Amino acid sequence: MQKHENLEAILVKRRVRQLLERPLAGNFDVLHLKETHRHILQDLPKIGLWQYNVQPGEFRQETQTWCKERVLASIGDRNGKPDVSFTSYSRMDGKAIERLNGILKEANPESLQQLGKAEFVEKIGELYSDLDYIHPFREGNSRTLRTFTDQLARESGYELNWEKFSGEEARDLLYIARDRGLAEHAGKDADHHPAFLARALYDAERHQGYPSLAQLLDKTVERIRTTEQRT
Ligand SMILES: Nc1ncnc2c1ncn2[C@@H]1O[C@H](COP(=O)(O)OP(=O)(O)OP(=O)(O)O)[C@@H](O)[C@H]1O
Ligand SMILES: [Mg+2]
Repeated sequence: MQKHENLEAILVKRRVRQLLERPLAGNFDVLHLKETHRHILQDLPKIGLWQYNVQPGEFRQETQTWCKERVLASIGDRNGKPDVSFTSYSRMDGKAIERLNGILKEANPESLQQLGKAEFVEKIGELYSDLDYIHPFREGNSRTLRTFTDQLARESGYELNWEKFSGEEARDLLYIARDRGLAEHAGKDADHHPAFLARALYDAERHQGYPSLAQLLDKTVERIRTTEQRT
């Protein structure tokens, strides 16, 4: 890890902790999502750590399909070379914003709290993956989505325990599971760049023996409150 990444990670973690202790008021809508991003990344531009031309709390501007290389830290081939895969996200156009609004209608503690654990895990996994595919910010999506879904889960009587994925190996399993979900989304998206889709599907196929996001979450999600106890 580079020195500046280290400082970035520390500053963002501090802000994430603040939100765990004192969650933002919000209805799990677009504004709430943007405010979560704004809060946890607010220190970076002030001290010159934001290398991209974006502001905390603002969506990315690119309207084309967007992709990046994923280099895993703990998984490699027989020669010890790190596993490199391809992660590919939605266009960030008007249609994506529309889809985002639709997805966030499902982010409703009133209905999520009615679900038993197995149904909740499936639903929150889908919601996470749908939001992950839109990847609305230029940077910091994963930390924003973990913070946002963490608050959503708590208000629905569940604990996601994302921190259980903070070690290198668990983090890599989470990346693989997420990226397999993204490839599935890309496959259903007629607007996805065909070459990016082919590569994402190739990597998803290579990784098909790894656990899915729902399988990972099933091991970490806990009920913290029953419906009756909700105040
Ligand atoms: N599961 C995890 N738990 C805790 N920290 C993580 C986890 N995965 C990644 N990190 C750390 O968070 C930082 C940023 O990681 P990453 O670039 O994947 O996510 P992001 O910047 O929040 O979102 P994205 O780049 O997808 O928009 C890095 O310091 C990385 O080590
Ligand atoms: Mg990042």
